[in-house]
Amino acid sequence: MFNETVISEINEIRGKYPDRRSALLPSLYIAQREFGWLSHEAMTCVAKTLNLPEADVRGTASFYSMFKNAPVGRHVIQICTNVSCMILGAEKLVDIVGAKYGVTSGGTSEDGRFSLVIMECIGACGTAPAMLVDTDFYENLTETNILEILDKYK
Ligand code: FES
Repeated sequence: MFNETVISEINEIRGKYPDRRSALLPSLYIAQREFGWLSHEAMTCVAKTLNLPEADVRGTASFYSMFKNAPVGRHVIQICTNVSCMILGAEKLVDIVGAKYGVTSGGTSEDGRFSLVIMECIGACGTAPAMLVDTDFYENLTETNILEILDKYK
């Protein structure tokens, strides 16, 4: 269950909108932050706190790729391999990260440190290759700097 602080945070967001449904996306973000991913329990908490049908919460959560429907590592690496990034070596970067941390696309490293996700374009084609680590954005990646960047995430 959510603690009182989280319930207050969600209720504060809910109070900003005339329709409680409008608070659903930010509430799902909060639930994901609290639980690490959107489990059945996490979505039930959101539904109860917002007084919305659980089906609405599940339908919304399953529609958006930024919501995780399974446990993930402490950090989620999202590397774009769309055209601009691919041309500038993103697939090689995926291989380097995979070899270094023992993680494959869609998987999580054995130590739980990283999950790896292959992304479509994240809007940084002019400074490709690009990636997100959790909510941090990185561009102009190279075979060297990507490992230096990831080393910061423990
Ligand atoms: S193709 Fe990778 S950011 Fe656009």
